[in-house]
Amino acid sequence: MDSLAIELNQTLKNTIADVFLSDYGRRMYFPVYGIVEQSAQAGKDAKLYNATTGMAVHNRKPIMVPFIRKQFTELSEAQIVSYANSYGEAELRTLWKSEIYRKNPTLGKALISLPVVVPGLTGGISQAASLFIGEGEKVVCSDLYWENYDMIVDGMRNAELAHFPFYTPDGKFNIDAFCRCIVENASDKRVTVILNFPNNPTGYTLLKKEAEDMKNRILDLACSGYKMNFIIDDAYFGLFYEEDVYSESLFSLFADLHENVMAIKIDGATKEHFVWGFRIGFVTYASKGLNEDHLKALEMKTAGSIRASVSNCSKTAQSILIAALKDGEYESDRKSYDEILEARYRKVKESIEAYKGTRLKALPFNSGYFMCFEVDGNAEKLRQKLLKEFAIGTISVKDKYLRVAFSAVDLDGIEELYAKIFKAAESL
Ligand SMILES: Cc1ncc(COP(=O)(O)O)c(C=O)c1O
Repeated sequence: MDSLAIELNQTLKNTIADVFLSDYGRRMYFPVYGIVEQSAQAGKDAKLYNATTGMAVHNRKPIMVPFIRKQFTELSEAQIVSYANSYGEAELRTLWKSEIYRKNPTLGKALISLPVVVPGLTGGISQAASLFIGEGEKVVCSDLYWENYDMIVDGMRNAELAHFPFYTPDGKFNIDAFCRCIVENASDKRVTVILNFPNNPTGYTLLKKEAEDMKNRILDLACSGYKMNFIIDDAYFGLFYEEDVYSESLFSLFADLHENVMAIKIDGATKEHFVWGFRIGFVTYASKGLNEDHLKALEMKTAGSIRASVSNCSKTAQSILIAALKDGEYESDRKSYDEILEARYRKVKESIEAYKGTRLKALPFNSGYFMCFEVDGNAEKLRQKLLKEFAIGTISVKDKYLRVAFSAVDLDGIEELYAKIFKAAESL
């Protein structure tokens, strides 16, 4: 049990609440450390640049596609305040399904479920975890990962993440360690895996040849009897900045691969449509072994779980997304903001080039909101120095890595941001 949970339980000891807390209740705590705490500190002190946040800003305000802003005055009362369906609005589910096929051409005609609407990607991952991860099970996950997986897998499900090293020593995705981790943590040749590309915190997405290699290695494991369930966290989908990156979801590769492989795609509007507070995500299922009836049954189970937990998701947000996805010009407007992030990515690459061979080694990155430095020294000390002496907010990961969210810093600040980060590192 996490030490924070133990502390809270101690506080509640001998109270009436203590008499009634469930096992789940006893395991729960709020992670007042890590990203949450570091972001809160930056919110106060990062007056120059706040590169902590998982949002995308432009001119120091959250990006908002004008079409979305306009909808707040154009929607009818019913579109704003009525209840939404527990499955999600039918029109939105159909539109999102077509979007999945459009953005992932390798899917071809592979059968996939209708997406079920969930409250953000977090809601999607926790629904998938509730439905498919049992107590005490191992869940394969890279050692560089979004820390909320700890709360969902360990805290909520009382299961355990089993980590493999994300990179090889020469900076490639560590496919051998990944496959080894699957084999070692499979119980009766059955295991759940969480994958996230573009990755938080590294900003790395598999290259085309790495994705192909992963597909073949998983197929081999499936043929030798391993049953694998892939929870595919596509939070930063679409933000791919290099030609050689695999710019589809891994869902495309696993959806029709083998009867022993199930793929659960977790994606959503949060980052793809720059609407972080909308809380709209989707859960979509596929496997070579699942027919229409099976997929319908999974949709019903997921909607039942939504009904039992949050009942349904924001009607207003779903109405706005329906209007956006049906509008002829929305997609090109939305894309122009992806391009703003891509320009920053190129500026980051250019800015760090001058500092090669210093105490900060940039881990390979090619996509998403973030990049990470491996710090020769203590990353947490560097973070604190940046915050106190330079008014710059960053995130330290495991005292070893410094995560920088270039999504949250305007293009004209990138060069100065990186110059200051390197300066702080030299004087550590
Ligand atoms: C990898 C990853 N997955 C999921 C999420 C959660 O997304 P949402 O805000 O839609 O719950 C985040 C948010 O930061 C993330 O970084």
